[in-house]
Amino acid sequence: MRSPIEFLLLPALALGLCDSSLAQTARWFPPQDMMTVGVYYYPEAWPEAQWDRDMANIRKLGFEYVHMAEFAWAFLEPEEGRYEFAWLDKNIELARKYGLKVVLCTPSATPPAWLVREHPEVLMVDAEGQRMEHGSREQADWSSPVYRKYVEEIDAKLAERYGTNPNVWGWQIDNELSHYGRGMSYAPAAQEKFRAWLKEKYGTVDRLNRDWGNSFWSQMYNNFDQVRMPDPRALVAGANPHAMLDLHRWFAAETADYLRFQAAALRRYVKGQWITTNFMMNYDLVNPALSARDLDIMSFTMYPVSGGLFRGELGFRMGDPAMIGFTHDFLRNLGSGVEGPMELQPGQVNWAPVNPWPQPGVIHAWIMRAFAQGARLVCVYRYRQPLAGDELYHKTIVEPDGVTLAPGGKEFVQAMEEVRKLRTMYQPASAEPADYAARRTAFLNSFENRWDMDNRKQTIRWDTIGHWMKYYRALKSMMAPVEVIDESKDFSQYRYLVAPSYQLVDADLIKRFREFAERGGTLILTCRSGQKDRRGHIWEALWAQPIYDLIGAAIPRYDVLPPGREGTVTAGGKSYQWGTWADILEPRPGTTTLATYADQFYRGSAAATSHVLGNGRVVYVGVDTEDGELEADLLREVYASAGARPAKLPLNFIVDWRSGFWVATNFTDTDQPIPAAAGATLLSGERVIPPGGVAIWK
Ligand code: GAL
Repeated sequence: MRSPIEFLLLPALALGLCDSSLAQTARWFPPQDMMTVGVYYYPEAWPEAQWDRDMANIRKLGFEYVHMAEFAWAFLEPEEGRYEFAWLDKNIELARKYGLKVVLCTPSATPPAWLVREHPEVLMVDAEGQRMEHGSREQADWSSPVYRKYVEEIDAKLAERYGTNPNVWGWQIDNELSHYGRGMSYAPAAQEKFRAWLKEKYGTVDRLNRDWGNSFWSQMYNNFDQVRMPDPRALVAGANPHAMLDLHRWFAAETADYLRFQAAALRRYVKGQWITTNFMMNYDLVNPALSARDLDIMSFTMYPVSGGLFRGELGFRMGDPAMIGFTHDFLRNLGSGVEGPMELQPGQVNWAPVNPWPQPGVIHAWIMRAFAQGARLVCVYRYRQPLAGDELYHKTIVEPDGVTLAPGGKEFVQAMEEVRKLRTMYQPASAEPADYAARRTAFLNSFENRWDMDNRKQTIRWDTIGHWMKYYRALKSMMAPVEVIDESKDFSQYRYLVAPSYQLVDADLIKRFREFAERGGTLILTCRSGQKDRRGHIWEALWAQPIYDLIGAAIPRYDVLPPGREGTVTAGGKSYQWGTWADILEPRPGTTTLATYADQFYRGSAAATSHVLGNGRVVYVGVDTEDGELEADLLREVYASAGARPAKLPLNFIVDWRSGFWVATNFTDTDQPIPAAAGATLLSGERVIPPGGVAIWK
């Protein structure tokens, strides 16, 4: 097992980051600061006479940096080749005057009108053939060489002017790279790049025909020029699953290529400033891991209360802490290890189907959850509420008068005061508690699996992320620290590995799983695992047969139930309901049954098994229950018998440890007592915390 400090450095070490870049990261994010909080400000939208007042107030409230120029292309380059930086110079100078660091942005999310009128081919075309218009944002096709040329020019101009400015701390590329609900761009430039990518991957069209299974329905191509990006809406009986998988792979690679391209444009002039982009939490078309080498830090945008219901009566006011935690644990394991939400919701938003008021206290709880999970920065979207234009109803740090602190602003102020107080007690050498460290778990994340399952769900009840979150939530209810990793990481440094619904496998991965268990690890695999090869082909074998030796059981069939029908599964004398997915297991001699189906024609068959392999074991949970309680109970039992002493917290009441501090956040419907020892010193909150509440102790 590694020490906690080694765990913090692991992503950096794995990437082979040199000492000097680690030292650089420590200069940007001094460890003793732990976490720093900033705010978005759009000076171009407010009268110049208010800039000084706003900047002074931002600092007075306790923010430590200000984020600017994100969508400002029309102000930076009002006409082709005519640049105007005076307004930004003034604001950077004001930030300096008040002791605020500055994050600048590349404005590529919002091309100006002159550019798209001159070059309409830079606009994206959606799957239905509709070309986007000027206005809104993310309307450009980043495969377009013309668009890239303009982006490169404005990025380089910005970097040339500010890339060595001592007050500029870092850069954000674009914003939430995506085309939001419009999916991918199907513009001619994108089509061409997709074809080039396929040619590179397959070499010959015969190989593509074979791997895509094109012999069925005469889908055969004579040459690559005939191929188009598959569009499910233009295909009478749906899109070819292998073509869809490749489309997702290509789009993620192309997006990473565009980020790399912009990072390179900035790096022509940028010295000693970091570069990031703000990925979207839970957006599956873009894979942040593909950009780990190109960005200095990882950030994301986080709007937990935006129309979802989530667990319990109050879930819609607090969001899903599992998804939030998963995102932190994923991004922290990429690149330098520095991560944090670049946009955090300060109150009601305007863009969800319904926009409820968040539970009082929960904004503070989101910030302290970020702290607890190791985030090094948090930034709030945004300081002032727009009075005209888009996002009118969006709450902000101050009320629409521009000066009065709004309720969410008060929660930010409280959190920032707490962080400053915790800094005074920071002890670099505080050792991670042994019980806590002993539960550290790797969670194997795969975008490819998610794409493939979401493309071919087999039941409308299937929800890949929902399934994963049942396991993540269960881990957190045991107070297990989680590292979300992908296959590029070495499994051997962990004792527990959870690989949920790992559908696409190959012989090498199965061997790595086996070795992991044989050396004493506990591997947890779940339903749908091992069903296909990496191309998304079903094995020419028994169903999922390549994993039978690994799990010590056969999977002769699986079942799914129509909406409204539930099946029952029992374990340890308790009953649980399922409806989404059930792998029916046939344990081999020596394999233990952990859960059993109690009804349907396969009543009495195994639903979950445990197979001893060398010094460790492989647990297979074949059923996906409605509320995830079975998964939580099984995991707890498995960890306890492996000697890990799991805690037993209610799901969504979360307790983490960071740098000597315990942090509890309550995302349940009821008051929760904190698991603090009698002699513990309470630094924030009470010993019983309400929904949306936080407690911190030492
Ligand atoms: C984010 C987006 C921001 C802003 C915000 C409003 O998704 O990145 O630019 O629109 O939503 O909540």
